[in-house]
Amino acid sequence: MTRIIEELDAQQSARAFSDRDAFALDVLVGLSETRKTLPSKYMYDDEGSRLFEQITRLPEYYLTDCELDTLQRHRDRIADYAPRAPFHVIEFGAGSLRKPGILIDRFVERGLDFEYVPVDISREAMESLAGDLERRYPEVAMRGLVSDYLTGIHWLTGNTRRRSFVLFLGSNIGNFNRAQATLFLRKLWNGLSDGDVVLIGFDLRKDIELLLAAYNDSQGVTKQFNLNLMRRINRELGGHFNLDAFRHFATYDVISGAMESYLVSQGEQDVYIEAVERSFSFHAWEPIHTEYSYKYLESDIDLLAQTTGFRVKEHLYDSKGYFVDSLWEVHKTDAPGSPDQPSARRSGT
Ligand code: AVI
Repeated sequence: MTRIIEELDAQQSARAFSDRDAFALDVLVGLSETRKTLPSKYMYDDEGSRLFEQITRLPEYYLTDCELDTLQRHRDRIADYAPRAPFHVIEFGAGSLRKPGILIDRFVERGLDFEYVPVDISREAMESLAGDLERRYPEVAMRGLVSDYLTGIHWLTGNTRRRSFVLFLGSNIGNFNRAQATLFLRKLWNGLSDGDVVLIGFDLRKDIELLLAAYNDSQGVTKQFNLNLMRRINRELGGHFNLDAFRHFATYDVISGAMESYLVSQGEQDVYIEAVERSFSFHAWEPIHTEYSYKYLESDIDLLAQTTGFRVKEHLYDSKGYFVDSLWEVHKTDAPGSPDQPSARRSGT
């Protein structure tokens, strides 16, 4: 009898496993659960990124205006934290120049030596960002990374010659649950050096009516953004979802502080997906969970920084007190979770 022992190169097998295979596997696993779920990261193909950009301009979606206000009010303060040595401005989940542009303006005015490194999953969004940067700041160098966040962190780890000023804006952290947020920030901390700076946007807990309106907008753009997940499965995985047979539903959990988004089956139905060669049965009114958008208390933010090895320098607020951009510094000498951090300065409200 033949006995074969083969050593597999992990990297090679990872390469053979395409993005489409990973998407199909996530869909198979998520839709096979008793409580069906689809990972929100798949919302951001080119079409999803376009729809999200529209969401940020909706009157009910207060988050973007509040963060723009925060950055305008505190731009000088934030620029004070920029390294004097050459540095990278690394922006995870970039999208457009509207927010980073406020800081880039200040960095340019101060004659700082930096390179802009946006990380975004959408090539289309990255190309439009590159065009905008070229028009507005022809003197600023850019290295766009079309990749997911973890690959972006990996890049960071191999590029430690320059200091880092990390932007993680827009409450993108809110789409992670607490365990995922901790893991992401800890990986980021691993990729950074002592003294590097991180600016993170957190949406704060607030009046529930405001939250519900923000995720159930009157023009139905959020509904289309949510349904785009099914449109994408139909397009890329040969799915047979009838979009009219599902409705968008967004609700708020007061205990966890999360806005939760669902696609709810409006009747009993079976949906076949060619890439996984099987169909999935839905009962009438059965939900698929598609997204969490966690809202934070300041104490949650302080704890998250402390557990992952960062020191909170300042909490910067918008004029309504709805949103915080929190300035953190990497302290490699701090044991993660050590309780003796100096308390942060509070600027704003
Ligand atoms: C990107 N992210 C922070 C948005 C949010 O608020 O959770 C995505 C979004 N989902 C529905 N509306 C906007």
